[in-house]
Amino acid sequence: MGAALALARRAAGHSSPNPNVGCLIVAGGRVVGRGWTAAGGRPHAEAMALGEAGPAACGATAYVTLEPCAHVSERGPDCASLLREAGIARLVVPGADPDPRTAGRGLALLEAAGCEIVCGVLAEEATRELLGFRLRQVHGRPEITLKLALSLDGRMATAAGESRWITGETARAHGHLERARADAIAVGRGTWQADRPQLTNRLPGARRSPVPVLVSASPADTGAGWLHARDIPGLLRMAAAHGWLRLLVEGGPTLAAALLADDLVDRLLVYRAPIIVGAGAGLEGFAPESLAAAHGRWRRVEERPLGEDRLEVLFRER
Ligand SMILES: NC(=O)c1ccc[n+]([C@@H]2O[C@H](COP(=O)([O-])OP(=O)(O)OC[C@H]3O[C@@H](n4cnc5c(N)ncnc54)[C@H](OP(=O)(O)O)[C@@H]3O)[C@@H](O)[C@H]2O)c1
Repeated sequence: MGAALALARRAAGHSSPNPNVGCLIVAGGRVVGRGWTAAGGRPHAEAMALGEAGPAACGATAYVTLEPCAHVSERGPDCASLLREAGIARLVVPGADPDPRTAGRGLALLEAAGCEIVCGVLAEEATRELLGFRLRQVHGRPEITLKLALSLDGRMATAAGESRWITGETARAHGHLERARADAIAVGRGTWQADRPQLTNRLPGARRSPVPVLVSASPADTGAGWLHARDIPGLLRMAAAHGWLRLLVEGGPTLAAALLADDLVDRLLVYRAPIIVGAGAGLEGFAPESLAAAHGRWRRVEERPLGEDRLEVLFRER
């Protein structure tokens, strides 16, 4: 399932409106098929993996990072039927699909055909990978990741407004990887005016960049290719209209504080540089009710050095 989740990550940022799913088919201890959701959502991961496996899928085990779909779509056949017809003998999944059109029906269809179902494998990891998909089902909004490049003392810019660059080259390259998994990136007007960021994914071999969005109550003058949201509700409406699953917010401090105050941040990327800045911009616009209210909100799931800097990835506990 870990390997299937790694395949699912290949499709992050490309698969919307569909979730990014991975599928691995194993027969006789060997991987015979691998698949991940194609750009634009079709073909699904299972169809791709079954295509690679061919007749070897008969009697094999399929590891899929989401319950196979069971609903009829004009864009292609349902994956539960495809797995059944291929003769998959054992299906391993993290859990049921929250999509009401499937919601257990894919598992039931395969079980009725005599397939052994193993449910609950790496459920937490898979839930995190598909958080944007789940949030869209339940709240009609994407997963919101807030990226913060901070000094040791929590500053995002110096008193003179300098913030390029707080972190080093390796951390910034990691930031481009994060851009690759997002559908869209938003910044506030202050950041746009100070830095004129391109917000493109400049990794070698990158084929697409997320949609850049400016958040500002004033008229926008960003130029071609950018979208403009007047406020946070407008940004969320825009995300829903486009079917985005992952929205990355790259600051600045005012927009970051507003999202935290509205409790809309699901995932935090904190890149911390070994510098002390003293006076400068931070998250002054955000003030939790109390220290007790600030504790227990964020769960660290990853921590690692990136050159001289450190990255922490945290998820909001809800
Ligand atoms: N270290 C880092 O991670 C990082 C990241 C980004 C930027 N920065 C630095 O931060 C500095 C800019 O700071 P800043 O606080 O001015 O940046 P900002 O948050 O990008 O921009 C603030 C502006 O964005 C708009 N905005 C923000 N929240 C909004 C909301 N809820 N609704 C509507 N509009 C909203 C408003 O524009 P209008 O007034 O036009 O409505 C507001 O004046 C620069 O020095 C930049 O280099 C640092």
